[in-house]
Amino acid sequence: MDRLQQAKALLKAHGQEHLLAYFEELGEGEREGLLKEIESIDWSIFSPEARVQPPEGDITPIEGMSTAEIEAQRETFFAVGCEAIRGGKVAALLLAGGQGTRLGYNGPKGTMDIGLTRPLYIYECLINNLLEVCNACGAYVPLYIMTSDKTDRETRSFLKEHGYFGYPAEKVRFFLQDMAPATDFEGKILLEGKGRLALSPNGNGGCFSSLRRAGLMEEAAKEGVEWFNVFAVDNVLQRIADPVFVGATILAGAGCGAKFVRKCEPEERVGVLCRRGGVPDIVEYYELSKEMANERDEQGGLVYSFGVTLNYLFRREMLEKIVGAVIPVHRAKKKVPCLNAAGELVKPEAENGYKYETLVVDVVRLMGSCLPFEAVREREFAPIKNAEGKDSVQSARELLKFNGVTL
Ligand code: UTP
Repeated sequence: MDRLQQAKALLKAHGQEHLLAYFEELGEGEREGLLKEIESIDWSIFSPEARVQPPEGDITPIEGMSTAEIEAQRETFFAVGCEAIRGGKVAALLLAGGQGTRLGYNGPKGTMDIGLTRPLYIYECLINNLLEVCNACGAYVPLYIMTSDKTDRETRSFLKEHGYFGYPAEKVRFFLQDMAPATDFEGKILLEGKGRLALSPNGNGGCFSSLRRAGLMEEAAKEGVEWFNVFAVDNVLQRIADPVFVGATILAGAGCGAKFVRKCEPEERVGVLCRRGGVPDIVEYYELSKEMANERDEQGGLVYSFGVTLNYLFRREMLEKIVGAVIPVHRAKKKVPCLNAAGELVKPEAENGYKYETLVVDVVRLMGSCLPFEAVREREFAPIKNAEGKDSVQSARELLKFNGVTL
């Protein structure tokens, strides 16, 4: 059977024959490209078994380390964390493969200039924060950057052009995450062009398998890395490889650590650290009943108040143990530019299909133990998610100013 026949058989088996509807119209290169995309589809993401099922077990509160407790032991934690950093045991892993659709910026999010009187790029803020730690500890932290087909080229050239904002280039390594096809609501894969599937990054949950595939997990192990600090591209105030956080997590003997901020209101739309069936886990805001979201302890504080900030420490040894574990697939309704019935590209005004993603929050549960570690919201949490309003460039600018950063 030739390649085309094989692709036809594969598509028939999955009810996706329409993907070759324009094959005859395509040039040689386009045909080759389309066949390659079809051959690379990970069909498992569409199986109902892979899709997120409500995990088993009752949701109960989890104990965490408050700012007061952290302050009381700051020096000890700092010393232990710094020693680990100096010993090359801590690496930073930046998740920069997302498309930032809510922000709507034309380019990878990290390349956005948020300065007012001078250029100040999101990447610059992150690297400045990391450099502060490197200076305090007297060592550079290896920085792994996960990009996707949508962000790779521009991210690499942007950082190179800006001299990595003062970070040593040899400490920075890039790797690519995989792409997943989007479907319509009936599960039919969408085309972005006559010879191209509507592909998008497959979520940040694949960061460790992509790191492994790139040979970098092995390399990190050889270099003595014991911890990965995974963080998002868009929180311009976050502490990266924070030695106090590192030290506390090491001393707690936990499989992972999670930085949290107290929820600002019971209904805040943020994932919350808890236990599920006794195991540390993160519940999405919509999984908490109204009663639970509003439940208060004897001091009047919210019982489920540990909002996650997408800043985690993962113990490498534990990651090795979960190789091959199934990370559930989240199917989210999105606006997906695609070909209409007449074969013309349309940019939908409303959600028209699903994107399939795995999420790094789902890795926390697999670690078995977790230290929730409190961060002060005004000091460490300024995510840029939206064009306006909450978690926007404007709200992040105000918080940067509050923290003494010149804009
Ligand atoms: P978000 O879900 O906030 O970012 O991911 P996004 O997907 O870029 O934004 P929207 O939803 O389209 O507006 C949190 C972090 O995970 C990264 C993002 O770059 C961000 O740092 N991410 C997300 C990836 O690296 N890959 C992905 O496939 C998705």
